[in-house]
This record gives sequence, C-alpha cells and structure tokens, in this order.
Amino acid sequence: MTSANTPRSLLAGLSAEQFLSQHWQKTPLLIRGAFPDFVSPLEPDDLAGLACEEGIESRLVEAQGPDKAWQVSHGPFDEATFARLPQSGWSLLVQAVDHYVPEVAELLESFDFLPRWRLDDIMVSYAPTGGSVGPHVDQYDVFLLQASGRRHWQLGGSPGDSARLIPGIDLRILENFTVEADQDWVLEPGDMLYLPPGVAHHGVSASDDCLTYSIGFRAPSADEIVTAFADYVGEQLGETRRYGDADLTSPTHPGELDDSAVERVRRLLLDAIDRPEQIAQWFGRAMTQPKYLDQLAAAETETTPEAVRTMLEGGGELHRSLGSRFAWRQLDESQVTLFSDGDTLACDPALARALCDEARLDASLLDVPNAASILATLVNRGSLSWDDGDED
Ligand code: SIN
Ligand code: CO
Repeated sequence: MTSANTPRSLLAGLSAEQFLSQHWQKTPLLIRGAFPDFVSPLEPDDLAGLACEEGIESRLVEAQGPDKAWQVSHGPFDEATFARLPQSGWSLLVQAVDHYVPEVAELLESFDFLPRWRLDDIMVSYAPTGGSVGPHVDQYDVFLLQASGRRHWQLGGSPGDSARLIPGIDLRILENFTVEADQDWVLEPGDMLYLPPGVAHHGVSASDDCLTYSIGFRAPSADEIVTAFADYVGEQLGETRRYGDADLTSPTHPGELDDSAVERVRRLLLDAIDRPEQIAQWFGRAMTQPKYLDQLAAAETETTPEAVRTMLEGGGELHRSLGSRFAWRQLDESQVTLFSDGDTLACDPALARALCDEARLDASLLDVPNAASILATLVNRGSLSWDDGDED
C-alpha cells in the first residue's frame, strides 16, 4: 500500500494526505493522466448489452424524449430502444458496473486512500457527441474518470439547496448554470475530475465514443442515520424501559408539557443512543449492506471448513464477491467484528485485514486461528467466491 504522504499520479501528484486536507469534500481537482494510457475494459456496445439485462439498473436520458424534454426511462432496454434513438442528445447510464465486470472492479483498488466502505459503485455512462444529463448537483463525492473518447466538463460553483430547478421534468437539472472562470476542461481517456458534494457540473460528450466512469461514494443522510440507528437500538431497549417521572411535582396547569417533562424525555433519548459500541456495530452493518440485496446469492451447496482448507492447500484462491462489502471494527487485541454484506462475525484481526485489503486470499491465511471456518461461512453467505469463475 502506498503511504499517505507519497505523491500519487492518481491525485495529480498530491499525496493522499494533501488530497484529503485540500480537496476531499471541499474543492474539485482536475487530474490529467490519472490513469496513464488508460484503455476502457468496456466499449459502448458492451454498456448497451448490460443495459438490456434483467436486474441491472440502467437509465436512458433523452434531451428531447418521445413524450417530453429531459425524459428518463429505466432499463432493461431492448434493441428496439437503441434503434429508435437519434444521432445525438441522449445518454445511457448503467449503475454498479463494478458488480458485473471484474476489470472495472479492479479500478477500485486504486482508491485505497479512502475507506472502502465509503464507496458506492462505479456508474458508467455513454453519450454520443453532444449528449449529457444536463447541469446538476450531486450529494456525493465522485471521481469522474474519462474512459474513452472525450467529455467537456464545466463547473458552476456551489449553488446551495435553494438553487432553482427546471420544473416539470424527470431530472433535477439546474435552471441557471453559469460556468466559473477556469472551470472548463475537455477530458481525454485516463483524465479524471474529482468533485465534492454540492458542486454544479455539466459534462457534454465531445466524441461518439465517450464513456465516463463515475466512481461514486456514499454518505447516509442524518435522517437515514437517526431512523435506522433508532430501529437497531430500539430493539435492544426492551418494553420495561420507559419515560419515568418519579421526581414529579403536581402541575399548576395539568395540560402543560413543562420543561421538566421535555428534559426527562431528552435524557432518556440521549441515554438510549449515546452508546459508542452499539453505534459502531450498527454503522458497520449499515455501511456494508449490499447495494442490491437480491444480488447477494448464498452458495447453492454448503461448503465446510475442511473443504475450504483442502481447496486453499490445493492452490485455490478466494476473492470478495463482486459487489460485496467488507469492513471491520477492533474489539480488543485479539478480536475484531468483521462486517460483510450487512452481517457480522467475530474474527482475528489479521484475517479481517486480509479480507478487506487483499485482492486474493490463499493458503497462507490458514495459520490464522479459525480461518477455515470463517472463510467457509463467508463463502456460504455469498460474500466470498472462488477464483475459478463461479461468480454469476
Ligand atoms: C455522466 O456520466 O453523464 C454524468 C455523471 C455525473 O454528472 O455525475
Ligand atoms: Co453528476
């Protein structure tokens, strides 16, 4: 792993530390040649093929759709859809391509200077010359990697929540978009643009082979955090723990909800949620929930620790299943909680680190206490797969 203060071409010569302190969640960064000599593992036709598959999330954005301006339709599409499209003025977007194309998933290894569990997915878009999804703002951090062809990017500052949107259309497109000085570039293959949340941007295809990969991150909203944690912790609180007022004095006005009542309920609430270890246990589960729950396929035939040991000793290798999410939390010196796809296991720290950091897991891990049994559980849950291509 490259250290935090080594300059990286992926970050325009900045170290991870410099990038994080100067740009992450703060200001955009244009990175020429982030991936030198980059060749897209996908072609526009491959993307169209993915967009025709059942269970793959895809969208078509048409500036002048059959029914209205900026029309969005959702896949799966068929050949007839692509046949009717005009020469220009549309974009095809396919979500989570890293779940289906291992060569696209491999790109994620380059982003090891960020917590893996902050990653959402790699969305890939194709647009013929002139195609775009309109000027807009996203609520998440994104690295926009130009994978083939050229795209003209323009940035329009941070318009804030009150920015006016074009009314009556399917998309949240800004009504007013003014390009800021010097925030206007044409990206070539291998170039990349980092955008923090909230920055207005507009990317227009400048060639008929324009493919852009969006390496997107996710951050739950305060609403999601409060609601989901309350659900999780609530289940553990039990029925007998209740609002109590043993300090009650007789009210002057029986209808009044006085300060003491509010303070009692505030204390109960704060006491119920101020539990760092439960927060960690919930957050690990939440941040490793699969993007698509139905894509986590448990093994059809259960494997055993002995079978896993034999496979690894025979040269077999395991990898995280495409789309699977892993993280860990230290419990004490010899134990961590391993989170995988929203579930947990108690685990040795060395095994958890290998599971999260290594692209391939081999027999060397069998020295770690309990490794074969944990690996077998993860294979059975569908979070780990053998390297022989048993991935669907
Ligand atoms: C695109 O790839 O067309 C749009 C990506 C974005 O603006 O977030
Ligand atoms: Co965007």
